[in-house]
Amino acid sequence: MIGMDVLEAIRTRRSIRKYDRNRDVEPEKLLACLEAARWAPSASNKQPWHFIVVRSKEKREELARLHPYGKFMAESPVVLVVLGDPQKHQKYFKCDPPIATQNFLLAAHAQGLGTCWMGVVDSSIEEPMRQLLGVPDNLRIICTVSVGYPAEKPEKTRQPLEELVSYESFGKGK
Ligand SMILES: Cc1cc2nc3c(=O)[nH]c(=O)nc-3n(C[C@H](O)[C@H](O)[C@H](O)COP(=O)(O)O)c2cc1C
Repeated sequence: MIGMDVLEAIRTRRSIRKYDRNRDVEPEKLLACLEAARWAPSASNKQPWHFIVVRSKEKREELARLHPYGKFMAESPVVLVVLGDPQKHQKYFKCDPPIATQNFLLAAHAQGLGTCWMGVVDSSIEEPMRQLLGVPDNLRIICTVSVGYPAEKPEKTRQPLEELVSYESFGKGK
């Protein structure tokens, strides 16, 4: 098995916002992440997504400048830009690309890479990002993902399961 068990990957993945500046992302690891993204489920298997891999420092700096909560895109060696295609699926073009993105995140983590997801769609930065990356008018920018080797080990909590799950009818515990 390459990497780790899927449940372990889900449990231990954290958003990484500090990156090792001396370590680039190997093309084959990135390809494995993109491959994981490609195999995500999508409504009617329409796959309404496209991915732009950005390595250029100038472009990453510009992405970082545009995104109010994504300044670390200037420091991660790779930024993935995830697009949604309303012509491929008018109803699910905002839903399916995030599923592919989560596959990407998990595949990255399983290979020792860190990532952080940054929302873009429907925000005021979508248009300037579109121009920066030459994204055609018929596609939407759903999110960006920074990718690189982690230089931090953040911890996070989650709500307990009892608060999130009902059995048989809403609000009913086990
Ligand atoms: C739709 C979405 C948008 C997000 N946008 C940002 C963002 O703009 N900047 C950022 O630093 N983190 C962003 N995050 C990461 C979340 O803050 C993070 O997933 C959450 O705090 C849980 O932490 P964990 O991923 O380490 O478990 C985003 C995550 C999602 C799913």
